[in-house]
Amino acid sequence: MKKVILVTGASSGMGKEAARKLINEGHTVYTVARRIDQMQDLKALGGYPMRMDVTNEEDIQTVVDTIIEKEGKIDVLWNNAGYGLYGSVEDVSLAEARKQMEVNVFGLAAVSQIVVPHMRKAKSGLISDLIKGKYNNHVPYPKNIRDAKAFVEQYKKYAKFPERSC
Ligand SMILES: NC(=O)c1ccc[n+]([C@@H]2O[C@H](COP(=O)([O-])OP(=O)(O)OC[C@H]3O[C@@H](n4cnc5c(N)ncnc54)[C@H](OP(=O)(O)O)[C@@H]3O)[C@@H](O)[C@H]2O)c1
Repeated sequence: MKKVILVTGASSGMGKEAARKLINEGHTVYTVARRIDQMQDLKALGGYPMRMDVTNEEDIQTVVDTIIEKEGKIDVLWNNAGYGLYGSVEDVSLAEARKQMEVNVFGLAAVSQIVVPHMRKAKSGLISDLIKGKYNNHVPYPKNIRDAKAFVEQYKKYAKFPERSC
């Protein structure tokens, strides 16, 4: 069945690939990131690119309001915006680490907070978090991405959001 999907961080990497696949499958896909110029190919495919910095609540509210006004619902939130920060604890400055957590953790929380009430109202919805996942295994992820994964794992455990990890 055709779904209304919001993909964050869709201007490159896995977010862009996921958005491309979902558009090709016939879903209504809103793709967001700061670099809107990098999503024009998704627009040509039939997607709806909009600017969103996940650390800016006004941006998030504008995007969610637009989707609700046009589509009446958001079926799926694909939380993908984020990045890895490489280096050991003494190499990564706290300013850089804070900035990453602001995007990978609180950005994800901020988008979820604004989307979830619409899902609750509809009694339906799915959140897929790309940042969540294994953080205590032997895959050589850098420390900061593991920190963010661990935080999101715990945050989601107690937030009681509808979700699916992938
Ligand atoms: N690659 C991996 O091995 C790996 C492993 C585990 C988890 N992950 C997670 O999976 C996700 C995608 O990874 P990737 O490798 O595909 O990343 P990527 O190619 O670097 O893409 C990152 C995306 O996040 C967006 N983004 C960054 N900061 C943002 C902000 N403040 N507001 C909105 N969007 C922002 C970027 O868009 P703009 O710059 O245009 O805003 C871009 O579209 C990330 O959350 C990453 O942490 C990746």
